[in-house]
Amino acid sequence: MSFSIDLTDKVAVVTGSSRGIGRAIARALAGAGADVVITSRNPDSLQRVKEDLETLGRRVLPVQLDVRKRNDIIDMAEAALDHFGHVDILVNNAGMNIRTPALKLEWEEWDAVLETNLKGAFFCAQAIAPNMIQRGWGRIINIGSATCVNAFPDITAYCASRGGTLQMTKSIAAVKATAAARPARVSTSWCTQASSNT
Ligand SMILES: NC(=O)c1ccc[n+]([C@@H]2O[C@H](COP(=O)([O-])OP(=O)(O)OC[C@H]3O[C@@H](n4cnc5c(N)ncnc54)[C@H](OP(=O)(O)O)[C@@H]3O)[C@@H](O)[C@H]2O)c1
Repeated sequence: MSFSIDLTDKVAVVTGSSRGIGRAIARALAGAGADVVITSRNPDSLQRVKEDLETLGRRVLPVQLDVRKRNDIIDMAEAALDHFGHVDILVNNAGMNIRTPALKLEWEEWDAVLETNLKGAFFCAQAIAPNMIQRGWGRIINIGSATCVNAFPDITAYCASRGGTLQMTKSIAAVKATAAARPARVSTSWCTQASSNT
């Protein structure tokens, strides 16, 4: 993928960059010149992506992160800032889906989807945004979906989480203090190659 924008000297964090859309975003950002913090729950995946992105000549910091764990998010932000000194771009990409009829959806399944897609994204933004505000520039990109506005059967928790992504992004953007961090949402259409279940 080629980019006409120059992100030299920018630092980007991409959550869920072990595969699929997140890995492609991390690669595209590195291709545009950014140094990248890649995250996953799986250290082996991180190592593979790190080696791939380093072929582009960028600095890559792999950080193990489960966005459902508060301390992981705090540690990730600290590691990124300790290593690079600043973060300019946060892409909240980590996400999951559970496809099941609404009447059969389990309590824990609802929690897993909402905590990953919505709560995790918000608290990653909360952990990173202060550095952007302090420096007067930043971009927070929350990966959404057609389900931010359209509903489909059998993915009720996912639809709820993505409706939340839309409102959460608008709410953050409405806060004057976070204006420097410029939150935005990107909705993708279905990507069959990227994921088996999303
Ligand atoms: N594929 C589509 O058609 C489509 C359409 C619209 C929107 N989206 C959205 O785009 C994003 C990426 O989708 P994808 O299809 O590329 O998904 P994917 O291939 O299943 O990859 C999901 C990524 O999220 C990470 N992740 C999942 N749960 C996590 C958790 N608790 N903590 C940290 N990381 C976690 C995974 O990392 P590990 O498992 O390695 O930890 C992986 O890197 C998602 O937010 C999805 O909702 C996808």
